[in-house]
Parts: sequence; C-alpha cells; structure tokens
Amino acid sequence: MDRGEAERFIRQFHHEQPTAGDAAPRVRAVLAEIGRTGTYEHTADELAFGARVAWRNSARCIGRLYWRSLVVRDLRHVTSADDIAAHCFEHLRQAGNGGRIRPVISVFAPDRPGRPGPRIVNDQLVRYAGHRTPEGPWSGDPRGGPLTARAVGLGWKRDQEAFQILPLMVRERPDARPEWYELPDDSVLEVPLSHPDHAWFASLGLRWYAVPAISDMTLEIGGVRYAAAPFNGWYMGTEIGARNLADGERYDLLPVVADRLGLDRSAERTLWRDRALVELNVAVLHSFHEAGVTMADHHTESQRFLRHIERESRHGRETPADWSWIVPPVSGSATPVFHRYYDPVDPSLRPAFLART
Ligand code: ARG
Repeated sequence: MDRGEAERFIRQFHHEQPTAGDAAPRVRAVLAEIGRTGTYEHTADELAFGARVAWRNSARCIGRLYWRSLVVRDLRHVTSADDIAAHCFEHLRQAGNGGRIRPVISVFAPDRPGRPGPRIVNDQLVRYAGHRTPEGPWSGDPRGGPLTARAVGLGWKRDQEAFQILPLMVRERPDARPEWYELPDDSVLEVPLSHPDHAWFASLGLRWYAVPAISDMTLEIGGVRYAAAPFNGWYMGTEIGARNLADGERYDLLPVVADRLGLDRSAERTLWRDRALVELNVAVLHSFHEAGVTMADHHTESQRFLRHIERESRHGRETPADWSWIVPPVSGSATPVFHRYYDPVDPSLRPAFLART
C-alpha cells in the first residue's frame, strides 16, 4: 500500500468536497489503519468520488461531460462468484434502464494484502462470441474469439449465430477456475439494425447491444486496487458503425454493405468504403433512435467534450486527453475535437482505470 497515494487521495477528496470537512483527522486514521492492516477501507463517499474522478481522468474518453452523474454501486461485501454474476446482471438492468442508458459502476471487493479480490474474465459484460470456421473466415465477432475459446473450454456451447452473447466468467480469486453464467435475457438490451432509406438493410440481420460495460480494467483509488469494477456509459454511434461492424478485423461489413448499395468496388478511387461507412453509421444511429435507446452521434459528443474542457478549466482543472482516441474514426475533421491539441496525459494520474496487467 502506497501511503503517499492514500494521503494524496484523502486530501483531494476533502479539497474537492468541502462538505467533507477537515482532511487531517481522516488522513491520520487512514495512515494508522494502513499501519495496522496493510491497507484501508474507503468510506462510501470516498469510493463514489474516487470512481467518478477515475472517469474524469480517462484520457481516451470523449464522454466525460457527465462524470459527476456516475451511479456507484458499492458491492465490496459481495464475494461469491454466483453473487458477483447476479449483481453484474442487475448492473446491466439498471444501466439499460429500458433504453434511457445510465452510466453505472459496480465495485466489488478490492485486493488486500495476502487476499486478492475477485476477477471478471470477460473484457465487457456483454460481448458476442466468435470463432474461425474450418473454411477460414470468422463466424461472429473475432474480438470475442479468445473468450469464446475460454468459455467452450469450460463447457459452454457455441452455436453458429453471428451475434451470440458470451457467458459471464467470474473468478472468486485470481487463481481460481472461472465459473460461467449465461446472461439472463432480461438483462441484455439489443437493437436490431435497419436503415431509414434502404429496406434491404434490415435483412442483413445485424444487431448490437445497448450497454458497453468494460469489465477488465482495475479501478485504482488512493492506492487501493479494485480489479472487479465493471463500468458503462452509453455508445457513440461510430464505435459500432465505424469500428465493430466495419473493421477488417471485426465484422468486416464494408464490402457487403457496398455491394448492396450497388457501389463500384473495382477501384479505391470510387470511395466505396467511405460511402458504405456513412450508410452503416446512419443505420446505427437511426436504429438506436427508433428503439428509444440512448446513443450519441460523434458531432454532438464532440461539442459536449469541448464544453467539458471549458467547465473543468473554470474549476481550475486540466483535462488530459489522447487526441488519437478522442477524434472520431469517421469525419474527424468535420468535428471540432479534431482542430486542436489537449493537455498532456500523465500515466501516473490517479484515481484511474488501469488496463489489466
Ligand atoms: N468501443 C467499445 C465497444 O465498441 C466500448 C468502449 C466504451 N464506450 C463507451 N461509449 N463508454 O464496445
């Protein structure tokens, strides 16, 4: 346990939350607790503040304007794999909220000295399975390939569907064998994709899930590491329309869409890729809108991000940002986030969401 990190966080909490009062007594108590036990327990308010600031500090996220509204579920007392899975499904229901997506984080037990906390094996709570067919091409989402192999090894059955939802795999301890759980139907909100001008689009049978819930990042607050702390926001359309369904390494649908649009694929010069990309993105935004499911377009989300930077600077805070992640993967220069630079990213900034090592 890094005492410096602990003290820094407690001071930041009291500095930014004036109603919390004087930091000194709490700093003393925390340092004494670390001396006694090798770690310390956050109060519920410290945990909620820490999780929100970890979002605020996420240099790759364009959606940070709403960081204060993050709903924090304090589930530190939940330890069995069965209960963790059940609470993850409840997380998805609360976040999905019938389509009005709410940003939510569920925080399970942290790592303690000699007693590591639980782990979620999946990189997202909802993810589509994928496997390479004997003929060579992929069935489903190649991104789900490793998890699919893992789940099958544990006894799960892969069918041939393009959008089969993987089971949730949970370990009570990092070295325990994962338990797996099929996601209940009522916990997963999905949107079938159609196009406002092209009736044939719906017959492609495409769909995507509504809640992107990252489950493989460690939330680190004041030196305490919460390795199982799945969190979600809502989707920006391009994540699905310009990446998940379009990347050559993912569903690779640009040639399919271009052919249905009757585009000339005999030369790159025709910009058939670009035209197919735009129509795919139109379909994603249209379909989520029709289904009443929250989704941002990249123009609106870019404007919000610049508002966020302004608001933060009024509070005297920088907004570190990674240009290459902030600028959307289509029409970058048509959005205001393209035409500027950002405060530099400091990898030691905390609280933070850290990639699993
Ligand atoms: N890009 C990832 C995906 O397509 C999700 C990352 C988080 N996105 C978000 N809007 N909070 O699944």
